[in-house]
Amino acid sequence: MSNFRIAPSILAADFARLGEEVKNVIAAGADIIHFDVMDNHYVPNLTMGPMFCEAIRPYTTAPIDVHLMVKPVDRIIPDFAKAGANIITFHPEASEHIDRSLGLIKEHGCKAGLVFNPATPLHYLDYVMDKIDMILLMSVNPGYGGQSFIPGVLAKAKEARTRIDAYTARTGREIWLEIDGGVNAGNIAEIAAAGVDTFVAGSAIFGKPDYKTVIDQMRLELTR
Ligand code: DX5
Ligand code: ZN
Repeated sequence: MSNFRIAPSILAADFARLGEEVKNVIAAGADIIHFDVMDNHYVPNLTMGPMFCEAIRPYTTAPIDVHLMVKPVDRIIPDFAKAGANIITFHPEASEHIDRSLGLIKEHGCKAGLVFNPATPLHYLDYVMDKIDMILLMSVNPGYGGQSFIPGVLAKAKEARTRIDAYTARTGREIWLEIDGGVNAGNIAEIAAAGVDTFVAGSAIFGKPDYKTVIDQMRLELTR
């Protein structure tokens, strides 16, 4: 198994057939289900709550990666943990107490991560690396699928990779580096070269009739 993970965003799936879509995309070779939660407050769109997470849970044993684009953050964390989430990430600007929110996610038995908008600095990581299992870099402004990749995020990915490698060398603990927004088979190799290991892709996968062909193509690009 390679160290790269493909995480289709079901935001771009057919919501009327969500369970089936989850099953099909994992059967097509995906590793993780990326689950976008938007609240029409922190971000300008409204998507899925914990009931949707609970509804898709029986359709796969793959990890469900819940990306919270909500404010406030804390009161929805236990509900997603109970609904079967494996990883929960949130935006530091949306939490009053970042350390507390990370602690809450861990207390509920999930892996935790911080999400950085394109213009959000990485310094939020400074004192919480021990509580983080994943860093998620937004390569679009959050709120909608189908936007174009912002190339400036590649430099940030390199910076995040340097931080992770230094931390792992010191502690032996692994932290995943995920990217979200505008990822496709045409840019995935360049993004991987910047140090990213986990790739969210919504429209690039669900916008095509054959998920396996796209995922195979992405993996092929990652081996180049
Ligand atoms: C944006 C979401 C993304 C989005 C990715 O706010 O967090 O996960 O659905 O979609 P694509 O791959 O279409 O840019
Ligand atoms: Zn997302």
